[in-house]
Parts: sequence; C-alpha cells; structure tokens
Amino acid sequence: MKRSFLLLYVLLVHAFYGAWCSSVGGSLHCEYSNLASLHRPHSVSITEFGAVGDGVTLNTKAFQNALFYPNSFSDKGGAKLFVPAGQWLTGSFDLISHLTLWLDSGATILGSTSSENWPVVDPLPSYGRGRELPGRRHRSLIYGQNLTDVVITGENGTIDGQGSVWWDWFRNGELNYTRPHLVELMNSTGLIISNLTFLNSPFSNKMIDSTLKEVSHLV
Ligand SMILES: *[C@@H]1O[C@H](CO)[C@@H](O)[C@H](O)[C@H]1NC(C)=O
Ligand SMILES: *[C@@H]1O[C@H](CO)[C@@H](O)[C@H](O)[C@H]1NC(C)=O
Ligand SMILES: *[C@@H]1O[C@H](CO)[C@@H](O)[C@H](O)[C@H]1NC(C)=O
Ligand SMILES: *[C@@H]1O[C@H](CO)[C@@H](O)[C@H](O)[C@H]1NC(C)=O
Ligand SMILES: *[C@@H]1O[C@H](CO)[C@@H](O)[C@H](O)[C@H]1NC(C)=O
Repeated sequence: MKRSFLLLYVLLVHAFYGAWCSSVGGSLHCEYSNLASLHRPHSVSITEFGAVGDGVTLNTKAFQNALFYPNSFSDKGGAKLFVPAGQWLTGSFDLISHLTLWLDSGATILGSTSSENWPVVDPLPSYGRGRELPGRRHRSLIYGQNLTDVVITGENGTIDGQGSVWWDWFRNGELNYTRPHLVELMNSTGLIISNLTFLNSPFSNKMIDSTLKEVSHLV
C-alpha cells in the first residue's frame, strides 16, 4: 500500500488550522482562515444523483452531474457536495468554484482501475521535469483549473487512488501516457484541503509535491 506521505504531511499540518495555502514562485505559503467557507448555505448528496457506494458501480457521471448542480449556488455562498459512508468508485471528475466536497466518516472515493476512466490531457506547461513519458498524461482523479474557494474536507474520509495497477503498468512498461495524481488543482485560489486520508496514489510522492506547487493563490 503506497501512502502519499508528503502530501499527507502537508495536509495534516493544514488540517488543524484550516489554512489557506498558496504557492508563489514555487514555495508553499499558508494563511489561517476563519473557515467561513466551510459553512455553505446549500447542500446536496451524491446519492441524489444516482451514485451507488458499493465499490463496484462506476459513479463518474454522478459526480459530474452532482458538481454541475451546485454551480447555480456559486453567487449564493456556494454549495456542499456530501459524500456519505460508502465506497464510491469513480473516474476522473472536475471540481467547480465555491464548492465544499465533504467526505463523511467512512466515505471513500475510490479511483477506477481502468485507465480509460482517467482521460488523457495535455501536459502541464511547467512540467518539463520529472515526467515519465513524453507527451500527454492522464488527468488526476479530482481535478480543477482556474477555481476559487474550494474546500475538500470532512470527517476523516479517504481518497484512495487504487494506484497499484498504475505501478504495475509502470514497472511492466505498459503505460502509454504519464501517470495521474490523486488531486490536482491548478491556477486556483482559496483552497482548503483537510481532514482526509490519501491512499494509493498512481504516481510518486515527489510528483504529488510538485502538483501541490501548481496550486497558486492569486488573491
Ligand atoms: C478537521 O477536524 C477537526 C477535528 O474534528 C476540526 O476541529 C476541524 O475544524 C476540521 N477542519 C476542517 C477544515 O474541517
Ligand atoms: C483556465 O484559464 C486559461 C486562461 O484563461 C484558459 O486557457 C483555460 O481554458 C481555462 N481552463 C478552464 C478549465 O477553464
Ligand atoms: C488563471 O485564472 C485566471 C482567472 O480565472 C485567468 O485570468 C488566467 O488566465 C488563468 N491562468 C492560467 C495560466 O490558466
Ligand atoms: C483518520 O483515518 C486514518 C486512516 O484511516 C486513521 O489512521 C486516523 O486515526 C484517523 N483519524 C481520526 C482522527 O479519526
Ligand atoms: C496502452 O495502449 C494499449 C493499446 O491501445 C492498450 O491495450 C493498453 O491497455 C494501454 N495501457 C494502459 C495502461 O492504458
């Protein structure tokens, strides 16, 4: 079992303070917040969108639809997407601004073990270093770009990439594209990621650290 120690370290530090973190010029900087954005006036549950937490049903569409819905609350304090206890298998999905993704106690978001559920996208502009294959890459499980005011938290839920298949593909030379990360939030501001456990990333800890550095705070 591969734990994302480095990411976990950063997250745990922030978990106790609800820090707002930023990266300008490559160094991570955090400010403590009053957690105002943790209190969203609207809330929906992933189950309202047909998701099934049995660890088998693929819930990518349910996540995408559930995240489209809170968009209508973006100018009204945002919304919370509640993920109850269960094993929620999914492919890669996009976050939106003014959102709290809340993983309740016993909730696990499980990454699909089929590579086609992790879409292939263009490489990051700043990713000259450390890419394992030239060209395109698989997109992270939870992805966001140009976002503001995003909170990923809850009651100690888990995001499990089920990454061992990716490590096998990597070792056997079966990868066609660079492996994905668990969470990637690029060019985004006002982020809180806390009180979560990250397990079994498809990619190395070092790269996850680099990914964190893609998070920027432009406020
Ligand atoms: C994380 O959990 C602790 C303990 O339950 C709680 O005090 C804190 O407010 C939580 N942080 C966030 C950002 O939810
Ligand atoms: C983010 O902003 C850049 C520059 O404005 C734009 O090219 C890109 O398409 C945007 N991405 C998304 C997902 O909106
Ligand atoms: C980042 O986001 C801002 C505002 O959403 C946008 O104006 C800018 O072009 C984006 N930059 C990149 C590199 O995506
Ligand atoms: C959170 O979950 C992790 C892994 O499941 C566990 O080791 C840890 O004790 C939990 N923390 C709390 C406060 O429940
Ligand atoms: C790589 O491409 C081959 C041929 O299309 C495919 O069979 C294989 O499943 C792909 N590997 C991965 C890890 O997606």
